[in-house]
Amino acid sequence: MRLLFIGDIVGRAGRAVLLEHLPNLRARWKLDFVVVNGENAAGGFGITEAICEDFLAAGADAVTLGNHAFDQKEALVFIERQPRLIRPANYPKGAPGRGANLIEAANGAKVLVVNMMGRLFMDALDDPFARIEDELAACPLGVGCDAAIVDFHAEATSEKQAFGYFVDGRVSLCVGTHTHTPTADARILSRGAGFITEVGMTGDYESVIGMEKDEPLRRFVRKIPSGRLEPAVGAATLCGVAVETGADGLAKKIAPLRLGGRLTPAEPDFWNG
Ligand SMILES: [Fe+2]
Ligand SMILES: [Fe+2]
Repeated sequence: MRLLFIGDIVGRAGRAVLLEHLPNLRARWKLDFVVVNGENAAGGFGITEAICEDFLAAGADAVTLGNHAFDQKEALVFIERQPRLIRPANYPKGAPGRGANLIEAANGAKVLVVNMMGRLFMDALDDPFARIEDELAACPLGVGCDAAIVDFHAEATSEKQAFGYFVDGRVSLCVGTHTHTPTADARILSRGAGFITEVGMTGDYESVIGMEKDEPLRRFVRKIPSGRLEPAVGAATLCGVAVETGADGLAKKIAPLRLGGRLTPAEPDFWNG
C-alpha cells in the first residue's frame, strides 16, 4: 500500500497548502491511505467540524489530534460523529471520541489508525506503552488490519524513539508529531516499521513552531505575555512522510515530503514514473 502521513496543520496557511496539494498528490502517486494531523488547524488551537470535513473531502482518510484535541469546544461533541477523527488513545476513561479506529481504504484494505500522546514534558496521561499494547493486541497487523499507522504525539525525542522501537515489527508506520520541526531520520527500523522522530508541521516556518514570532519572542525576552499567539500567515511548507508497505503490512520504502514555503523541498522518488 501507498501511505502518506502529513504533520500538524497550523492555521490558515497550513490549511491552504494542504488543500492546494493533497488532491493532486493523492492522484499523482495513487495513494491508498492518507492521514493528516489536525490538532492546530483552527487558528493554531484544535479543529472545527468544518475544517475536519474539508480535510476528508480533500483526500484525507483519517485526521489525528494531540494535546490541542479539544481546544475548540465543539470538538467535544462532533468528534463522536466523526469516526475518522482520532484523538489520543491515552486520555482518561470517558473522554469523547476514539483513540483508535479501523478505517477502510479506497482499495478495501483495512487500516488501523492510532493516536497516542507521550508523557515527558507533557500532561501526564495514561501510560502510552501500556495503551498501545492493548490497541495492537486488539487488531494485530496482518490479522486484524492490512496496515497500522501510529501517530505518537510527544515532546521528547527520546520517548519518541523508544516508542518506535516498542512498536517495531507490529506497525507499518510510527510517526512522531507535536514538535513541529522535521527531523532527518526517516527510516525503516530493523523489524520493519517505518519511522520518523518528527514529521514536522504543515505551516509557515518563518515563525516559532507555526506562531507569528513577535509574541513568542516577547514572552521569552520579557517574561510577560502581551498578546495572543496567532498562526503565522506566510507561505506554508507541507511536511509529511511517504511509506510503501509490502504484503506483510510492514514498510518497504520510506521518504520525507516537504513541499512549498521556506524549507528545502523533498519528495519520494519511488512513486514517480
Ligand atoms: Fe501540533
Ligand atoms: Fe501538540
